Amino acid sequence: MNLKIGVIKGDGIGPEIVTEAMKVLDKVGEVYGHTMDYDQLLMGGASIDVHGVPLTDDTIRRAKDCDAVLMGSIGGDAKTSPWYQLEPDKRPEAGLLKIRKALNLFANLRPAVLYEELKGACPLKEEITEGGFDMMIMRELTGGLYFGERKTVEENGVMTAYDSLTYNENEIRRIAKRAFDIAMKRRRKVTSVDKANVLDSSRLWRKVVEKVAGDYPEVTLEHMLVDNCAMQLVKDPKQFDVILTENMFGDILSDEASMVTGSIGMLASASLNETKFGLYEPSGGSAPDIAGKGIANPIATILSAAMMLRFSFDLDAEADAIEKAVAEVLREGWRTIDIMSEGKNQVGTEKMGDLIAGHIA
Ligand code: IPM
Ligand code: MG
Repeated sequence: MNLKIGVIKGDGIGPEIVTEAMKVLDKVGEVYGHTMDYDQLLMGGASIDVHGVPLTDDTIRRAKDCDAVLMGSIGGDAKTSPWYQLEPDKRPEAGLLKIRKALNLFANLRPAVLYEELKGACPLKEEITEGGFDMMIMRELTGGLYFGERKTVEENGVMTAYDSLTYNENEIRRIAKRAFDIAMKRRRKVTSVDKANVLDSSRLWRKVVEKVAGDYPEVTLEHMLVDNCAMQLVKDPKQFDVILTENMFGDILSDEASMVTGSIGMLASASLNETKFGLYEPSGGSAPDIAGKGIANPIATILSAAMMLRFSFDLDAEADAIEKAVAEVLREGWRTIDIMSEGKNQVGTEKMGDLIAGHIA
């Protein structure tokens, strides 16, 4: 099979971690007889440096021409990088929001799994993590506060800023369906997270989710307020199977969920639309503080590449092979610095990529 993959290496640690994911993909191609046809695309700061904007229309067009896009990370140090002297809609993050909208990537899947081998890196007490946990956060990605109207104006001499949070029933229904579909392939439980005790958008969210649940009698639905969910994630993460939530809540809760797995460097993600097309990226940021040092953890990006093979190309055996290779390398005791613990072998980004690629057979 020929896989046409757009590659956005991006900023900060992006180029380092994506290079390792491509190494692993190339090895998969070799072993399973696929050819990888990469189109390198610029986004974020890397695009600002060349084009003056974080995402060009030409890049969107080329991304649409691909079957899937693999991405590293975008953004720099907001205090020191000249990118942050630009207007907000010209900064690196604006490129990411724009590509999500342009490609209609409304469903963001962020799996948070506690690997047996990484229990030591988990900040929670052992009695809480006993038996591990495995949840999927389904974050709505193209609506809500991040895409609502915003403005900053002076009103009666007082600077005032507005951000609006809007959801219509269609947007809620399509993401809810995705959550229930994936729950059917898992442990059949959906926890829908909202703030229905305060927000109208959450009250509509709850109503629509309940209606969708009617079509999935085998799935248990529960509603949870977002503040309670933040607490439950550290108190009893095992209770969660699929967490369904709106854009901003999902942004915040997915960072929290990643930390209880030990490191954000382990968390993959997929952003999907109605077709097989997807954008795959690690959930973590560009980590400018460690960029170029060769120490970043490439595993989240490598696992994102596995999600890409699974969701966009239906290559389950190949995706399984990558996930298995990651588990084996961890079992053998290899660690990047973020997940390092006593008695293990610390390696850098490149070596971690070599090890994982070496386990693909
Ligand atoms: C994420 C990031 C982005 C988001 C930022 C960079 C705009 O935090 O993917 O979680 O908030 O969606
Ligand atoms: Mg985030």
